Amino acid sequence: MISIVLDVEAIRRDFPILNRIINGKKLIYFDNTATSQKPIQVINAIRDFYLNNNANIHRGLHTLSQEASELYEEAHDTVAKFIGAKGREELIFVRNASEALNLASMILSKYIKPDDEIVVSIMEHHSNLLPWIFLAEKTKAKIKIIGIKSDYTLDYDALEKAISEKTRIIAITHMSNVLGTINDVKTIAKIAHNYEAFVVIDGAQSVPHIPVNVRDIGADFLAFSGHKMLGPTGIGALYCREDILKDADPFLLGGDMIKSVSCNISGECNIVWNDLPWKYEAGTPNIAGGIGFAEAVRYLEKLGMINVKKHEEELLTYALKRINEELSGFIDIYGPSDPGKKGGIISFNAKNYDPHTVALHLDSEGIAIRSGFHCAQPLHEHLGLMEGSARASFYIYNTKEEIDVFVDALKKLIKED
Ligand SMILES: Cc1ncc(COP(=O)(O)O)c(C=O)c1O
Repeated sequence: MISIVLDVEAIRRDFPILNRIINGKKLIYFDNTATSQKPIQVINAIRDFYLNNNANIHRGLHTLSQEASELYEEAHDTVAKFIGAKGREELIFVRNASEALNLASMILSKYIKPDDEIVVSIMEHHSNLLPWIFLAEKTKAKIKIIGIKSDYTLDYDALEKAISEKTRIIAITHMSNVLGTINDVKTIAKIAHNYEAFVVIDGAQSVPHIPVNVRDIGADFLAFSGHKMLGPTGIGALYCREDILKDADPFLLGGDMIKSVSCNISGECNIVWNDLPWKYEAGTPNIAGGIGFAEAVRYLEKLGMINVKKHEEELLTYALKRINEELSGFIDIYGPSDPGKKGGIISFNAKNYDPHTVALHLDSEGIAIRSGFHCAQPLHEHLGLMEGSARASFYIYNTKEEIDVFVDALKKLIKED
């Protein structure tokens, strides 16, 4: 059962952690939506930096500092190119998608006044919901929440109806981390721009799994995390259109984000911000993390994002077929039934078992999944799932054989009933 698009055997050799034995069984890692595993190339890039090039950036004339600066700057270019941004001037390194979305909300805060409207969807991760609720509360703006249809896709009619001249921001996920639904963000961006609203896209799940190009979509902002796409934790990015960034105020202030600051003893000061993106990266950044992030992007580029998408689609098709044929009546799945319309995510509940019991049972078989609300409590409550759901999610190193073990483990649980 070899993948037709990726050489999964070769890929697996790059991920030493996949040889781990968990509870006496070979690890099957199906918690990729939470974070991905890291290939040896990324681990080595970080190690090499600390072994050979470690110094602070933009601060020293000495060779090591110059090398570190160059590596860190080039990492921005690599990640920027990956998502179709103009260059480093449109890409700010942050800690993760959550920080990126918070930064987007801070940048946009100056455009919001009382009675303006911010549109989000019910399928948002808390990280693309709380910053907007908070911004609306502070500015006396209103939040409008778009629902989903019975096939777990976004209710586009409701979206069209919700938008008006009052809409200033549409903040929407590209791919739901629960349903796997891929939203038509290109159409949503067009609708937003017709009303001169900004569109903020949460790409935390799309950028690691499908081709994403900010120019093609028409995104004003795109947020994503390195750790979900083979990179280290503690590094992520916010794409933002250069003209917006030039105009906006920085969020953190301190070292490296200014060109000059002059003050006299009367307390009169004059500050000149640094060039983009450094104006938004105050203090010593996560240099090694940025370098590891770029290496992860190079790894994905070599595979080709279209192949990554096809591979996950193949796994999803196979898993849904087996579950529907062999576990029908015992497993409820939440998400579009067409594998072409969603990412490699299966959120489900097993009859008579709460999601945590399912997760613990699977862990006893060496299979890592997630259980609970997956930081999307409003969506679960909207679906009437007050205990949440169990979630299995796939990536480049997963195989159909692993899905067989997963389905058989679910069958074993159900038989115990
Ligand atoms: C859709 C979505 N948005 C945002 C986030 C937040 O990402 P992070 O925890 O890396 O900040 C996640 C994490 O699971 C996510 O799935």
